[in-house]
Parts: sequence; C-alpha cells; structure tokens
Amino acid sequence: MEINKSSAPTPYSILCVVGARPNFMKMAPIIEAFAALGPEINVCLVHTGQHYDVAMNHQYFEALGIPQPDINLDVGSGSHTTQTANVMLRFESVLDTKNPSAVLVVGDVNSTLACALVAVKKGIPVIHVEAGLRSFDRAMPEEINRVLTDQISELLFITERSGRENLLREGISKHRIRFVGNVMIDTLHHNLKKAVPVSKILKNSDSEKFLTGHDGYGVLTAHRPSNVDDPDTLRSLLEIAIKISAQLPIIFPMHPRTRDMIQKFGLNKILDVPTVLQLPPMGYLEMLGLMKDARVVLTDSGGIQEETTALGVPCITLRDNTERPITVDEGTNTIAGLDSAKILTIFDEVMLTGGKAGRTPELWDGQASTRIAAEVLDWLKNGYPNK
Ligand code: UD1
Repeated sequence: MEINKSSAPTPYSILCVVGARPNFMKMAPIIEAFAALGPEINVCLVHTGQHYDVAMNHQYFEALGIPQPDINLDVGSGSHTTQTANVMLRFESVLDTKNPSAVLVVGDVNSTLACALVAVKKGIPVIHVEAGLRSFDRAMPEEINRVLTDQISELLFITERSGRENLLREGISKHRIRFVGNVMIDTLHHNLKKAVPVSKILKNSDSEKFLTGHDGYGVLTAHRPSNVDDPDTLRSLLEIAIKISAQLPIIFPMHPRTRDMIQKFGLNKILDVPTVLQLPPMGYLEMLGLMKDARVVLTDSGGIQEETTALGVPCITLRDNTERPITVDEGTNTIAGLDSAKILTIFDEVMLTGGKAGRTPELWDGQASTRIAAEVLDWLKNGYPNK
C-alpha cells in the first residue's frame, strides 16, 4: 500500500493498539517517542480490553505512565474466535470515526491480529512492532497471529536480525523491514532504577520468613495453554518447580489462567510446600525487581526470555522452542521444554557456575522506540526508500 503523499493529513495521526499485558510495556516508550517528535504526529491510544483485571492491566498503565486510552473496546475474555471477532467488530467503528494515517500494533496477541486485519481491509496501512519472530510452531496461537499480522503489515520493525530472514522467506519486501532493536528493553532501561526490591514485595512476615536462611531465590512463571491447560502437563511442570525448590526457594507469581487451571485440576495440594511462594500477578516494577535479583528464572513467557537476557539473569525456558533465538545464541536463555531431567541438569549448572554469561544483543540499547518514531515519520512523509 502506497501512502498518498498529497492527501496524507498533517499532522499525521497514528492509532496505537494495546490489548494484553505484554503489549503495555512495548507501547509505553513508543507513545513517548512519538510525543517527543512534537505536533507532527498525533497519537490515539485504543485498548481492546483483552486484559482487564487490575493486576493484568491498570497496575501497568500506572507504573509505566501510559496515558489513559482514548478508547476502550472492553472485549474481555472468550474463545479465540469470540475474542478476535469482538475486537474486530468494535474496532471497525473506531476506524470509521478516526480515519487515521496508520494503525500501529505490537507483539502477537489476539488483539494485534484482529486490529491489523480490520485496518488493512479498510485500506489503512498497518505498522507492526516486534515483527518477524517465529517459533515455527503453528500450534501456538501467537505464531498464527505473528505470521498473519506480518503478511498484512506495511512497515515491519524487527528486534533481532533473524526476523529479517523469516520475513524475506515469507515473501515480504526488504523495503518494508527495519531493524530497530527492542522496545521492551527501552522500558526495562527506563524503569530499572524504580524496580521494587524483593524485600518490599515479600513484606508480610510469612513471606519474609520464606527467604530466611536461603542463598537467593528463583522465579517461576507459566501461562501458555500448552503448559497449563492440560492437567498432566501442568502437574509435571509444578512437580519440577517443587523439586527445584528443595535447593532454591521459588517465587511463583500466578497468571489468572494458571491460577484457574490449578484450582480446576485440584493441584493446589501439591503446591502446598513451604519452598514455593504463590503470589498474584505482579506489577511491572515488582516483576522487574523479582527478576533482577533472582538466581534463575523458569518461564514460558517470550518477553521474560528477553528481559532476563537484558538483565544478565539465567533463564530456563519451559518450552520446546523459542521465537526469540537471540536470547539463546547471545543471551542467558536455555531451552529446556518440560523434560524434568534436562531442566534439573541446567538448573544444577546454573547453581554451580552462575549460568550462561550472555551479552546484550545488538541495538537492545534503550533507543528502539526513538528509531521507530523517526522511521514512521519519514515513511509517512516520503514512502519507501529505493522502491
Ligand atoms: C494472552 C496472549 C499471550 C500473552 C498473554 C500474557 C493471546 C492469544 N494470548 O494470553 O500471548 O502471553 O496474554 O498474559 O492473545 N484473564 C483474567 N483477567 C484478565 C485477563 C485474562 O482473569 O485480565 C483470564 C481469563 O480466565 C481468560 C484467561 O485469563 O479467559 C486467558 O486470557 P486471554 O486474554 O484469552 O489469554 P492469555 O492467556 O492471557
């Protein structure tokens, strides 16, 4: 889609979309970077309402200083079809009213694809931030969201060089791809000094006792349907964490989906050990504090694989693959799946040696959103270079 230079409105208007928790820390620095350009770009923030709990939503807006959304679609939870369809229906009327120069989406959640699809069908160009990541696992809902969003995006911002190869292989023109670094790491840099120390997070006396007499702690997060929606899989994941906790106490902030599944499958009893501390979902600054000082993080989250690499903290990924290979090739991440023996071997290694040293990936320097804002403005004004 070519921008029609003569009819493009000035100032340009970018409609930015967020829906779920991992979107918030990506969008925060982008909005700031657009604001820093002055009056040329006007941002409208739309929240689809995919995540709505205080702990999954409001806490993040507050901690990250994100302005209140201009529009909230209040879609809430549902099956993938219901959720995606509701976002699409409600987002269409927003586009009719706002008619922006472009729609900017981040990441790979259902809201990302839903809004991108509506925009492209209405002839409004889509900008995708965090494009090109591939797990090559089509059973993962996010992989479908990534592949399809990239196919219909006009401008694709990638976080690591592997993204370019993936996009070129899928037939996307090189003129659309920009390697800018990682906006989530912009947010991490920006907030590291404000990270809440673990002593403050565990402020009630029971929790305080939890770490007494131990040399540090580990953190566990798990929310992928493939890990938590099946009772046997979830049980083995929890059993691995319990085994590890005999050596290193484990702090386990629980995603609402995981909490519900543990309840549904009656697994609360096995988790009732003094070496695993169950907590509600953490705010951004609390999670940063927990990760920063952990000896190891066990996770199935994509974002946490990147954040631990940026923090230099060993990460054991409880999946068979990653769409973020740079965290393994250059960072502190090791892919372990749910193979108990493998996880315990990696864990022992971490306890013995401190784990992979890792280094900061290229352009994960806290400036990705500034690059994005400059590129977007240039593209709106001049279209693609060397087309
Ligand atoms: C979504 C994203 C996933 C991302 C994750 C981060 C998709 C396909 N998945 O997964 O990529 O890593 O967010 O959290 O978009 N729930 C609440 N309160 C909320 C939100 C959800 O209780 O504020 C519960 C509901 O029971 C809901 C379930 O969590 O049914 C799943 O929520 P949903 O947004 O569908 O997917 P997530 O698992 O959060």
